[in-house]
Amino acid sequence: MKINQEDLKQNLAGKLIGHRLHYYESIDSTNEEAFRLGVQGAPEGTVLIAESQSAGKGRMQRVWYSPDGANIYTSIILRPTFETSRASQISIAVGVAVAETIDYYCPGKARLKWPNDVLIGGKKVCGILAQMKMSVSAIDFVVVGIGINVNMNHQEFPLDIQEIATSLAVETGREISRLEVIISLYENFTKWYMTLQECGFESVRQKWLNLSSMIGKTVSVMFREETTSGKAVGMDEDGSLIILTAGNETVKISAGDATILKR
Ligand code: BTN
Repeated sequence: MKINQEDLKQNLAGKLIGHRLHYYESIDSTNEEAFRLGVQGAPEGTVLIAESQSAGKGRMQRVWYSPDGANIYTSIILRPTFETSRASQISIAVGVAVAETIDYYCPGKARLKWPNDVLIGGKKVCGILAQMKMSVSAIDFVVVGIGINVNMNHQEFPLDIQEIATSLAVETGREISRLEVIISLYENFTKWYMTLQECGFESVRQKWLNLSSMIGKTVSVMFREETTSGKAVGMDEDGSLIILTAGNETVKISAGDATILKR
């Protein structure tokens, strides 16, 4: 069943996130289109939703599998007024908002994996891709793209991700209303985005740490050719993961793919 655009529009009217809605039956990538709209001056809180993506983008130049009508593919355009160094705090806040949204369907089960994967039972249910456009030394706009696996069943995932991905339907054993999830997601994100803008990063970081599946565990993070391993001990002000290496050195990692090695 398609998302009911009229219901969605009515629910989002006047809200910070979603007051302008662009809905697509099919698109290359909601992030790509959001970037194009951002360059044309689309206001903060503009959201894009697609039923399917022909070139869904994941992190690290990966593809995001985006079949028709099953999942949520959305991008949000933001124009934060804070310094560029804080931009990555936004995707951390999105992760927290997604985990909170999922908690309603799978109570106590959503976990965050740095930088911004959302997992249920160790399997990925959501990925987040943030892209930023700068103007001189300030943020012009940020696009946050969110892909949530909602109604796909186990066999519908491509073989290479079947054992590492899950969906809300797989976890709950029932079909989930995407409309409901989207509305709740935008509401939760509005709350955390406003917290970031008005009170700073601290409570977002604390919430992330509470929901994280990594802190206190031995992890390895791979970025390009380099791998850093050690105990994950915290998150820095700029969203970097703080690792204590075997040599007792504290290292900050700002990008990469993390794996939990030991519980
Ligand atoms: C990841 O690799 O974990 C990030 C995946 C992000 C996917 C979403 S789906 C909506 C938006 N449009 C895209 O092309 N990508 C993001």
